[in-house]
Amino acid sequence: MKFRDGAIVPALGQGSANLAQGKRSEAAEEEALRTGLSLGMALIDTAEMYGSGRSETLIGRAIAGQRDRVFLVSKVWPNHVAGDGIARACEASLARLGTDHLDLYLLHWRNPDTDLSGVVVAFESLRVAGKIRAWGVSNFNVSDMEDLFRVPHGDRCATNQVYYNIGGRGIEYDLLPWCEQRGMPVMAYAPLGHSRLVRDPTLARIGAAHGCSATAVALAWAIRSGNVIAIPESGSPAHVKENAVALSLMLTPQELQILDAAHPLRWVNLLRPLLDRSKRWLRNLL
Ligand SMILES: NC(=O)c1ccc[n+]([C@@H]2O[C@H](COP(=O)([O-])OP(=O)(O)OC[C@H]3O[C@@H](n4cnc5c(N)ncnc54)[C@H](OP(=O)(O)O)[C@@H]3O)[C@@H](O)[C@H]2O)c1
Repeated sequence: MKFRDGAIVPALGQGSANLAQGKRSEAAEEEALRTGLSLGMALIDTAEMYGSGRSETLIGRAIAGQRDRVFLVSKVWPNHVAGDGIARACEASLARLGTDHLDLYLLHWRNPDTDLSGVVVAFESLRVAGKIRAWGVSNFNVSDMEDLFRVPHGDRCATNQVYYNIGGRGIEYDLLPWCEQRGMPVMAYAPLGHSRLVRDPTLARIGAAHGCSATAVALAWAIRSGNVIAIPESGSPAHVKENAVALSLMLTPQELQILDAAHPLRWVNLLRPLLDRSKRWLRNLL
């Protein structure tokens, strides 16, 4: 995939929100990330808030010695954006990740009082200083994107990372076409529906016909347009191997139709981002 500035970005990456939090041994999780890298899932997504920095530290160990093979993404917490907060948060992320630059730095979400023009100025100075190669946003709806594009250089945003999977297609109503019209790839988080799709019978049936897992089908569906980057998370090397098959899986028009019938686009899909946004606002208030 390509960003609008010409940067080449892997279509399938690896998430890390729940790594380094005791679900498995950290050695197994590092091995899972390295397995993904060796199979072409070369984008790794993290954030300063994941495990209060522990996810970044684990990733730093996993990619040591092979930084140049990784498209590294991190995110700044919106409560850190005032003053020189973004520059300081970026330095801290770089130190934990053991690198001198990020390939992409995202604003994790927008608070009601987030000063978007200040955020763009801070991201642009990090870009000019070589600390980040590109910047973007996360959890932005169309009206947020329009606000962003109204501030100076706001249209330099490389991508918007949002909730998207075959069970949660809400962005197809408006945000996905909005980004497509501007040639901007979207990054799909929770492409396995936070694991809900692992046992989906339609995905499993199509997977069986191809000799692969339901998760590979869900991921091939997510990246089918060439305009979406998917970042499934797994701390298991075996699961990562299953997921990487999506990179070489071409779903037929008939299979896409079957999937569409089993998981149609529904208005109820719009509720999910609204719920997430309300939860974030409440968390900030408390
Ligand atoms: N920007 C944001 O606000 C935001 C929000 C949420 C997530 N994210 C990013 O998106 C990433 C992915 O989202 P997510 O972790 O919420 O959901 P997800 O990727 O849809 O699902 C992850 C879950 O699926 C399981 N899984 C993965 N592959 C599997 C396989 N082949 N077989 C069986 N189970 C499998 C994982 O367990 P195992 O470890 O056992 O494989 C894990 O429990 C996050 O890690 C994070 O980087 C961003």
